[in-house]
Amino acid sequence: MCDLNQVATGEGAMEKVAFTQMKDGTKEDYAFLNEHETEYAAGTADRLLDAMVELDASLSGYQVTRLGHSTQSATRAWRDGADIDWLVATLLHDIGDIYAPYNHDEYAAAILRPFVREQCAWCVETHGDFQMIYYGHHVGADPNKRDQHRESPYFDDCVAFCENWDQASFDPDYPDLPLDFFAPMVREVFARTAHDPAVTRPGVREPLSDAKLAIARAAAEREARAG
Ligand SMILES: [Fe+2]
Ligand SMILES: [Fe+2]
Repeated sequence: MCDLNQVATGEGAMEKVAFTQMKDGTKEDYAFLNEHETEYAAGTADRLLDAMVELDASLSGYQVTRLGHSTQSATRAWRDGADIDWLVATLLHDIGDIYAPYNHDEYAAAILRPFVREQCAWCVETHGDFQMIYYGHHVGADPNKRDQHRESPYFDDCVAFCENWDQASFDPDYPDLPLDFFAPMVREVFARTAHDPAVTRPGVREPLSDAKLAIARAAAEREARAG
């Protein structure tokens, strides 16, 4: 059997595996690949932030860009006192528009699900159905499409997510916080251990707003503006 390390570099360090079919890989190959994957995964947050900038070019016709809609939604969530899971989920809720225009909600939820509370991933996954209440009647769709989710413990959360943050965030005059403001939160969330039950917390519902935190954040914004 050939020495994969020597094949790769001639110096003992593997740069790539030698197999051409997965079934021929060795334990060492897969340990090596796993290490690479972990390294690559560490860059997920920054790739997502770059993708958010790409969103700027997508779906014209609204008064705000898709990135503007995303930062505006997240800004409203922040000003309501929402926690970091809500904030990152809200910021990324339409990221699927780039590659999955017909199921953008499921696409975004798939990205978020390993790293945020189940509650937030569920709301992102189903928000397309809930949003129909606002415009389904204009486009020949069922405005009550959300009714299929009535049994979910998160039904009311998604109603509030759509009403307060999503459907409300197409205002070109709203003072959004920039993407850079949310970037450290995105990095923090995607640095979590994937699928950690302490993060996903199935069945747990955290409120979308926190009045005390909202007041503190408003004060901090005033202070920052005053310099
Ligand atoms: Fe959406
Ligand atoms: Fe949206």
